[in-house]
Parts: sequence; structure tokens; C-alpha cells
Amino acid sequence: SVAMRQDILDLIERLPEEIKTILKAVRDTAEEEGCAVYLVGGFVRDLLLFFPTQDLDFVVEGSGGQFARALIQRMPDGKLTQHEKFGTAQITFPDGSHLDVASTRWEYYSFPGALPQVEESCLRDDLFRRDFTINSMAICLNTEHFGELVDYYGGKRDLQQGKIRFLHNLSFIDDPTRMLRAIRFAERYHFSLAKETLEALYTAIESGVLAKLSVERFTEEILHIFKEINYLAMGQTLIRSGLFKAWFGDDYAWNFNLEDEQDSADWSLNTRWLISISDMDSPVIEKVLDRVILNRSLRDETMTFVSLRESLSNPLSLNEMDALLNKVPKEVVMVLTRDERFSKLLTEYLEASQKINMSLNGKTLIQMGVKQGPEIGKILDQVRRAWLQGRIHTLEEEKGIVRHWVDTPR
Ligand code: CTP
Repeated sequence: SVAMRQDILDLIERLPEEIKTILKAVRDTAEEEGCAVYLVGGFVRDLLLFFPTQDLDFVVEGSGGQFARALIQRMPDGKLTQHEKFGTAQITFPDGSHLDVASTRWEYYSFPGALPQVEESCLRDDLFRRDFTINSMAICLNTEHFGELVDYYGGKRDLQQGKIRFLHNLSFIDDPTRMLRAIRFAERYHFSLAKETLEALYTAIESGVLAKLSVERFTEEILHIFKEINYLAMGQTLIRSGLFKAWFGDDYAWNFNLEDEQDSADWSLNTRWLISISDMDSPVIEKVLDRVILNRSLRDETMTFVSLRESLSNPLSLNEMDALLNKVPKEVVMVLTRDERFSKLLTEYLEASQKINMSLNGKTLIQMGVKQGPEIGKILDQVRRAWLQGRIHTLEEEKGIVRHWVDTPR
């Protein structure tokens, strides 16, 4: 409607300048190329929700490749990558942001040297291939229709009513990652799943559709969830729905304690992950690790967490604790401290280690006349210990320890 168009123009007007400039460039390119172009997907959804938005996705009715090559002419600092096979192109900018161009016309070659076969569809089909109604809206960017909402599937109504609704009931079978996306969007916007969508989710979980999903894609979706502000609520839904049980094979002691909600906003991804598995026994954690493919740092921190939990169960001196924990990432120690078995011990250690304020290092020791070699490490250990035990407080005292070591015949 006309009123709706004005609303959208107002929303666009309030966008950051960089984005408005891009939208104008897209509009002018469409004029030049004589094709229809639309803003689609998550950006449209978030624009209508007044949510801060990032990734721009466009759909061109026509050749996406040609459109992207014309568009890049208007974006001197952009870098164009074309994926002809998929009929898509991407433009990346120096600040790391990017925009995607997809097209409704696919040209592909059945064998090298063959004439291109062209498969043409339209915006309506493109939007129908998407996951939920709220993600299936488009905004026209052509001059004459600039700001008009294209909403074939009731996306605006579902945004207003707070519903996550699929477009057809094979949606979760076509793409099981959508099961996790449904839960993520629902909790992110405090929406609920429409009746049929919820039923289809349960049916899909029970019928074992998750088996079609690779460990890589599952992990990717899980990490998207762990990055969300509301990840604790999402985690609870993943458990309550039986999705986690279906994927991991059993109901494990995941920790998505909503009482942590206040603090969790500041937790890093790694901290969030470690806390979520912190109530599990080590053999269970191993089983979990078989069903996800974590990056190096997450995997290493998980293993460190498990092995430290074992080590800390034995009585330890301050020095032994220091040797164990000195090089361990802070987030691992933080999560261990939440365990009441270790909290007293670790708090004492952390207090002591905060007093360490070492000035000397290998280089300064050599300047003081210490021979290069294993001596250096040993002396630095001595100095560190002295700090830890509160025996020294100044650089002069540090040097005293060094001199004493050097002067003592061994
Ligand atoms: N999409 C889909 N099915 C998927 C993934 C994506 O239909 N499994 C479609 C949706 O229309 C979505 C668009 O592709 O809006 C872009 O996907 P993506 O960037 O992953 O999601 P956004 O909706 O932008 O969500 P987010 O805010 O989390 O980035």
C-alpha cells in the first residue's frame, strides 16, 4: 500500500549513510541495466523490526553476474567475487562488510565448451525457497517502485503477530538447519513458532531428519546460537524440544541456567561454551566433542578445562597451582572458579597471582650478567615464586634474588 511504502522510505531514510549510498547505487545500476532488483531476506525483516541490521542481500531478476559487474563500477573501494555456478556474486568492502547479489536467472554449462543453458525463474520462486515467512519479504529498489514491499507469504503479518512460520511443510526436510534457525529466531525476537511449524519441528526431530545434517553445518548453527544474546533461552529450547537428544544421542547435563542471564551478556563465545558443558562428566564431554567440530581454540580450551578439573582434585601448593594455571586462558580459569569444589582454592590463587608484578625478563637477566641457557628460566621461576608468595614487592628485590642466585655456588 501507499502508506506502507512511505513507512519503508522513512525507515530507509534513517539508515546509516553508507547503506543508503549502496541502496542508491543499486537503484541506479538497475536503471542502467533495465532489470528489476530487490532487497531481500534478513535485512528486510530487521528493517521492519527497527533492529540494527548488517548484511545486505539483493535479488536481481535477470543476470546477477552482469548486474554485479555494473554495480562494482559505482563502488570504487569494493572487491567483486563472482560465483557463476550459483548465479551469485559478492562485493566486499575494506571495513569487512559485504553485500550479496543473487539472481533469478541461472546460466550453467552441462559440459566444458557447451552452450550455456539458462534457467529462469522469478522473485516469487526465489522467495518461496526461503525458510520462514518473516525472511521471505523483499523491498523493490527500482526508481518507480522504490520502497515497495513485496510480501507474497504473509511475512509482515507474522512479524506483527510474532510468529515463526515455514512456507511449506517440507521445509525442515529440505534443510534441517532450519530447525535450529527456527529456535534461534523465535528466542531472538521473543516470537513463537506457528502451530503447524512447531508440529513439523517435532515430527522432523522424531523422524530423524537431523541425520541428514553434517557435523560441520550443525556446529555452525550451534555457534550462531552461542553468539546470540539470548543463547541461554535458546539452549533450553534445544533441550526441551528433544533436538539436542536427537543429535547427541542422549540427554546430557547441558548448563543453560537462566539465572546467569545478566552476566552472560559479557561472556565470550568460549566462556559460554565451557559453561554449557561444565556440569558434564569428562566421558560425556568426549561424546559431545564427537558430534561437533570445534575450532582449535575452543577445542583446546575444552580439553584444558577437562584436564584441569582432574588435576585440581588433588591437594596443590600455590606454586603447583601457578605451574598449572599460569599459561591457561583466563576464561578457562573463570569457568573452573564457578565450580564450588575449586572456588576457594582458585580464588586464593587468583588473589595471590594478582600481586605478581614482574619487571625482569630473559633479556634483562642477560644484561645483569646471567649466562644464556636454562639458568634463565630457573631464575625467572624463582622470582615469580617470590612474588606469588608475597616475599618481594619491588624491582630491587627481584634483582636481589637474581644476585643471590648468581652468587650462590652450585
Ligand atoms: N535462508 C534460508 N534457509 C537457510 C538459511 C538462509 O531460507 N537455511 C534464507 C533466509 O531468507 C535468510 C537469508 O537466506 O533471510 C539469509 O540467510 P542468513 O544470512 O543466514 O540469515 P539472516 O536471515 O540474515 O539472519 P541473521 O540475522 O542471523 O544473519
